[in-house]
Amino acid sequence: MQYGYFDDNAREYVITRPDTPLPWVNYLGNEGFFSLISNTCGGYCFYRDAKLRRITRFRYNSVPNDDGGRCFYICDGDITWSPAFLPAKTPLDSYRCRHGLGYSVFEGEKNGVAAELSVMVPMGDACELQKLALSNTSKEEKHLTVYGAVEWCLWNAVDDSTNFQRNWNIGEVEIEDSTVYHKTEYRERRNHYAFYSVNAPIAGFDTDRDTFLGQFRSWSEPQAVKERTSYGSKASGWSPMAALRLEVDLLPGESKSFLFRLGYVENPREKKFSAPGVIDKQRAYVLLSTYNTAEQFDQAMGALKDYWTGILSRFTVQSTEEKLDRMVNIWNQYQCMVTFNMSRSASYYESGTGRGMGFRDSCQDLLGFVHLIPERARERILDIASIQFPDGSTYHQYQPLDKRGNADIGSGFNDDPLWLVACTTAYIRETGDFTILDEPTPFNNQPGSEKPLLEHLRRSVNYTMTHRGPHGLPLIGRTDWNDCLNLNCFSHTPGESFQTCSNFESGKAESVFIAGMFVKYGKEYAELVERLGIVDEAKAVLAAADEIEAAVLTHGWDGAWFRRAYDAFERPVGSCLNEEGQIFIEPQGFCVMAGIGGREYGVKALASAEKHLGNDFGLEILHPCYTTYLDYLGEISSYPPGYKENGSVFCHNNPWITLGYCSVKDGNSAFNLYIRNAPAYIEDRSDIHRTEPYCYSQTIAGRDAQNYGEAKNSWLTGTAAWSFVAVSQGILGIQPDYDGLRVEPCLPDQIKSCRIKRLFRGTRYEITVRRGENKGLMVDGKPVPGNQIPLTAAKLCEVELTL
Ligand code: GLC
Ligand code: GLC
Repeated sequence: MQYGYFDDNAREYVITRPDTPLPWVNYLGNEGFFSLISNTCGGYCFYRDAKLRRITRFRYNSVPNDDGGRCFYICDGDITWSPAFLPAKTPLDSYRCRHGLGYSVFEGEKNGVAAELSVMVPMGDACELQKLALSNTSKEEKHLTVYGAVEWCLWNAVDDSTNFQRNWNIGEVEIEDSTVYHKTEYRERRNHYAFYSVNAPIAGFDTDRDTFLGQFRSWSEPQAVKERTSYGSKASGWSPMAALRLEVDLLPGESKSFLFRLGYVENPREKKFSAPGVIDKQRAYVLLSTYNTAEQFDQAMGALKDYWTGILSRFTVQSTEEKLDRMVNIWNQYQCMVTFNMSRSASYYESGTGRGMGFRDSCQDLLGFVHLIPERARERILDIASIQFPDGSTYHQYQPLDKRGNADIGSGFNDDPLWLVACTTAYIRETGDFTILDEPTPFNNQPGSEKPLLEHLRRSVNYTMTHRGPHGLPLIGRTDWNDCLNLNCFSHTPGESFQTCSNFESGKAESVFIAGMFVKYGKEYAELVERLGIVDEAKAVLAAADEIEAAVLTHGWDGAWFRRAYDAFERPVGSCLNEEGQIFIEPQGFCVMAGIGGREYGVKALASAEKHLGNDFGLEILHPCYTTYLDYLGEISSYPPGYKENGSVFCHNNPWITLGYCSVKDGNSAFNLYIRNAPAYIEDRSDIHRTEPYCYSQTIAGRDAQNYGEAKNSWLTGTAAWSFVAVSQGILGIQPDYDGLRVEPCLPDQIKSCRIKRLFRGTRYEITVRRGENKGLMVDGKPVPGNQIPLTAAKLCEVELTL
């Protein structure tokens, strides 16, 4: 069952009813100001950091779900309705939500009035714009009372939801003309404020939430709205808000539009006040005049759409598979931008108050993003490397606002360092920019500790080489990619964090997964330093990779698949010797991608993975699920069977298997797995899958779960980047490499031909892939041996590959 449809020409997903199984969310903003917005106009905004600069309030896990957000009320006689259905909840005569790239449009109609509410964050400015267009489609004159309202968050989202003894005394606002300024804590150390404004004279306002709502009432029926009035309340402590009221007359057929602006401003510390205690509002005035008319809004919307046209033109495919094209050309790349921006910090499921940017997460997000805006990828790599410690280990997370490592989580996730190699080599292959390796980059952000980025990579690689266990495999530390495989934790205290506790430092637990990573990325590092002429180091690292590969073949191979790990007592994990958790997906993906044991082992491991882990939605993370809590495995066994790391389809690692299939040249299996959880392919099962059909979710409950097939934790997942890598570099086979673009597709039988456009190092490659007789690669009409297109200074390059 579906709740909407894809409109590929408009690059929109059109939701046709408000009661989607969960809020279906979109992300607005790409740089400073970010908004999350659901299909009923819920959500929240923040500036750069969802914890430290939260602008509007959001109640996670609220009842009813997705309450608050942007509250619009249209009062028409006795009827009060909202263009996006919430918060008024009045059934609409028609409803549509169109989620586009960086904007969302809500079209509601009720009783002869049509509303179109378009919401966007314009390029380059710190504000959200909401254009409300109202049309009288009836034959009578209409007199409408209209409200737009938001509730302010007191900046620090954690304090805001915990420290009430302070919060309820500090709220402050200023009101000037049609603008409410939120200035809590501005009197003291903050130099930023927010505002909510409309481009028309208001008939009234409220800034104290409890006055606006009235006692015992909710966002669906505020007292002020019920009375069609405003109380002119001035917030003083409690919960400041901004509710702006307009009185609107519409003749039959007449339309009027209003532009609401929700902005964020930082002032220089020495220019905070225009008079004692009064905000200097010059910068707000500039923003307000930049976006003061419907035309200005439309221009900003046009610029945003052009921006996305440009971004997405860097990689497009045209094939016979409509859904594949839709994922590749629009939604997968869009999600890559979002995960790059957010890492795992702020969504409807990640509260933005805990995790900042993850080290391993951000490195992987970059793999799907680097072709879109390489300059931003470059900056990100240097930020990430700056939280590394001198010994090569790293902080696991950092806060986007100050870019400092998060000491609460610390380090010891032994896969982390190698991801830095993965993303840096991906960046250089994309751009050819070796100068990044020379960038002086500090350790742990300590001034004076700067070393060239290359030295950071070196220490990453050395860290794995020098932290090995009894079988010669890399030590797992707190955990590896699988945050829940906590082999040194042994926790018996309820609520204790599995990721940070370490009650038994075995110094023995080892990871076959990290071994696979090392063989892959260690070799990539060796290739890199070899290119730099550092031949001895390349040799040493290759020798270590050989050693680790041999260790995997001796101790990591279980007979029909790769084992997962060795626990603190040197017992295998992910082996047929275990009762539960006999096979895990991660080492099958990574060891096959790394080529360990060659094609023979690869084919076997993949077949075992499909046989034991395969379900309708992809491959489960392990099988059989753990049915009891096992202290020597940790959090993984804490989840009920079929959920999360205990046996769901953990979508992030499915593309590793897809890529594994590509490395053994099995295009049919690769594609068959790809389409089992690519959102557009499962749109028709939205009632079961429940999360948005235009983006990946982190997990889909496995066969052992009561709610098999139900997805959770949409949007912020490494699935986005890895799926894009799998489909663009694996299935479609367009691989950026140091000396040129490689074209090595691994297509399923059902795709006979396709056409790919790829911008690479300033050249637009137009690539036709088809099946036929004269096999081989033709570049600008001339045959070229192998699969690599040599670099060229030409702006355009025609490529034909016959398979
Ligand atoms: C979450 C984490 C990621 C981890 C994965 C598996 O997605 O963000 O870092 O690798 O879970 O546990
Ligand atoms: C929990 C989640 C896992 C996530 C980790 C880090 O363990 O199950 O997916 O990576 O928390 O926050």
